[in-house]
Amino acid sequence: MKTMKLAPSILSADYANFESELKRLEAAGADYAHIDVMDGHFVPNISFGAGVVESMRPHSKLVFDCHLMVTNPEHHIEEFARAGADIISIHVEATPHIHGALQKIRQAGVKASVVINPGTPVDSIKHVLNLVDQVLVMTVNPGFGGQAFLPETMDKVRELAALREEKGLDFDIEVDGGIDDQSISQAKEAGANVFVAGSYVFNGDVNERVQTLRDAVNG
Ligand code: DX5
Ligand code: ZN
Repeated sequence: MKTMKLAPSILSADYANFESELKRLEAAGADYAHIDVMDGHFVPNISFGAGVVESMRPHSKLVFDCHLMVTNPEHHIEEFARAGADIISIHVEATPHIHGALQKIRQAGVKASVVINPGTPVDSIKHVLNLVDQVLVMTVNPGFGGQAFLPETMDKVRELAALREEKGLDFDIEVDGGIDDQSISQAKEAGANVFVAGSYVFNGDVNERVQTLRDAVNG
């Protein structure tokens, strides 16, 4: 079985205090800091860019899991690699060059991850699964925190877990959107092992919430 990882999203953190927010996550036992980059084009919202990642890097040992919700992410890979990203996730819907873009991430010495939106089939990434360290299955439509988990996306998690086995591959399966103490168990049962949670973690006691999620996946 794959190691279970918790990846709180700093999209729901206090943007004026990223240093202390990262320290809170580290103290709570989070594995990754999930960093949601939005360009106001691929998704309607604008969040933050590589400069913020670079500024945060010296203040945290957490794995920086950068989720690029940007059009043509291939133009931004080197920038995020230099800024200190450990994992870069790019959407298959955001580029006509997904194969080359994933190669570019690995060439930059970063773990490559491909993302599919709720309406995008697993088939669309079937031919690049050998190029990735992680597949991110969106469990909400990207753009905003605090939306409700879409249980129908679990069919795709199951499909991916089966494909991974069939092809003898080793990628992690991450889920993102509407993850809380209830939906996390559904996602784990379907075969996910990396769990992003934004509003659930930050709209309460961070320590307690990370621990509750940890118990839900380890219990
Ligand atoms: C959505 C982002 C998510 C978001 C999750 O576009 O990719 O990472 O922060 O937030 P919650 O956990 O509140 O759904
Ligand atoms: Zn995300």
